[in-house]
Amino acid sequence: MKEMILQTKVLVCPYGELTDTDREVVDAARAATANSYAIYSHFNVGAAVRLGSGIIVSGTNQENAAYPSGICAERTTLFWANSQYPNEPVETLAIAARTEQGELEVPIPPCGACRQVILETEKRFGRNIRIILYGARQCYIIEDGVKALLPLSFNADFLE
Ligand code: THU
Repeated sequence: MKEMILQTKVLVCPYGELTDTDREVVDAARAATANSYAIYSHFNVGAAVRLGSGIIVSGTNQENAAYPSGICAERTTLFWANSQYPNEPVETLAIAARTEQGELEVPIPPCGACRQVILETEKRFGRNIRIILYGARQCYIIEDGVKALLPLSFNADFLE
């Protein structure tokens, strides 16, 4: 039997070492946490994307008393961006979160459903998305697209 090893490269750095361009989209995600509707979990998530033209669009998690009807910040943001700017590729996606105690020290990674939607967005525009996960202590940068976070992923290729 052969082994198949799937590797994930994650760059780790403090916020202060991000480039100005990355910091701008990260700051939009951090600011968006203030608009989160998270009255059940009190876990406020913000996401922001930089589109091909440089426009930055942000969104938040939106919870619901019927819990599964809520949606994560990443999907709110991607669906909103892709609805408003259907021809603009998503270049970068930044994610940040805060609780009542303040910003999270450690970056929060996107959930499985959001990873699948990020993958669809990459497929749609034919390019990888740079993903930046913000934490007050350190940030993670995934440069190689969501496949690093979603190895052996199901995508449209299998439907052909
Ligand atoms: N949440 C996000 O918005 N993004 C993530 O990556 C993880 C979780 C939201 C969903 C829910 O509103 C709250 O955080 C707690 O799970």
